[in-house]
Amino acid sequence: MLSYKHIFHAGNFADVLKHLVLQQILVYLGKKEAPYCLIDTHAGAGWYALQNPQAQKNQEFNQGIAKLWQQRECPKVVADYVQLIKHFNPGTRLSHYPGSPLIMQHYLRSKDRLFLHELHPNEFELLTSVIKAERHIQIKQEDGLEASLKLLPPAERRGLIFIDPAYEIKEDYQRVVKTLKNMQQRFATGTYALWYPVVNRERNLGLEQSLRNSGIRNIQLFELGQQRDSDAPGMTASGMIVINPPWTLKADLQTALPWLASHLGLPGVSSFRCEQLVAE
Ligand SMILES: C[S@@+](CC[C@H](N)C(=O)[O-])C[C@H]1O[C@@H](n2cnc3c(N)ncnc32)[C@H](O)[C@@H]1O
Repeated sequence: MLSYKHIFHAGNFADVLKHLVLQQILVYLGKKEAPYCLIDTHAGAGWYALQNPQAQKNQEFNQGIAKLWQQRECPKVVADYVQLIKHFNPGTRLSHYPGSPLIMQHYLRSKDRLFLHELHPNEFELLTSVIKAERHIQIKQEDGLEASLKLLPPAERRGLIFIDPAYEIKEDYQRVVKTLKNMQQRFATGTYALWYPVVNRERNLGLEQSLRNSGIRNIQLFELGQQRDSDAPGMTASGMIVINPPWTLKADLQTALPWLASHLGLPGVSSFRCEQLVAE
């Protein structure tokens, strides 16, 4: 049985990079009139109260969104991201953190479609209390990778597949690459955003090598390291791998990542990567 619960991690430094990248892709998709399709393979509960005892346990948000809350001088994409989270926190206090489904719904227009997948029964129940299924929003308690593949290619022929597994089983690193290859065969022009943690650097190097060997073109990688790689348990860094990114994304991240590393990482050991992993 799955045991991961995102509330323990909501708003942490990994969520900052993940949702900043998500926001930039959504804004980019919305610049064209033509409708798009959004698919969230691992949706989570959708909405997190930071006073909840589970969020309070390690207060990970204090090393993420909370550190950005009062910043006045920051790169534009960071300011955009903080503004987005403030939208979900009327008033001045940071009390809640939106998950990827709410962020997607925020940008969704009535002509666009959103598909959310969440396997865990409790998280699914929470998600369906936060977001209501309607004509253009579907919420399924299904395996997100299998179900999403069946949705491709979407009728809109434009869209984002957002893949955010918990990596509770180490086979997930290879499973996502296999699924991405299958997805790409069905929908080559789609944008794909894959989140990854750095818990064991060997696994990440394996993931990157599999992607380089996959035949998929135009892959960028963005990583934010809070501390040095370590053999001790726990996540030291995390990143986003984006296939067919908006053409502005890398330049924006080139400015944002060093700033985020110096504001969210441990002094002297934080790091970032901003790379074209596979050429166009
Ligand atoms: C990292 S969390 C998602 C966070 C969310 N994407 C966000 O950004 O707010 C991963 C979620 O995937 C769910 N999950 C795990 N395996 C799954 C699967 N095969 N299909 C769909 N959901 C799954 C877990 O229950 C968990 O809620």
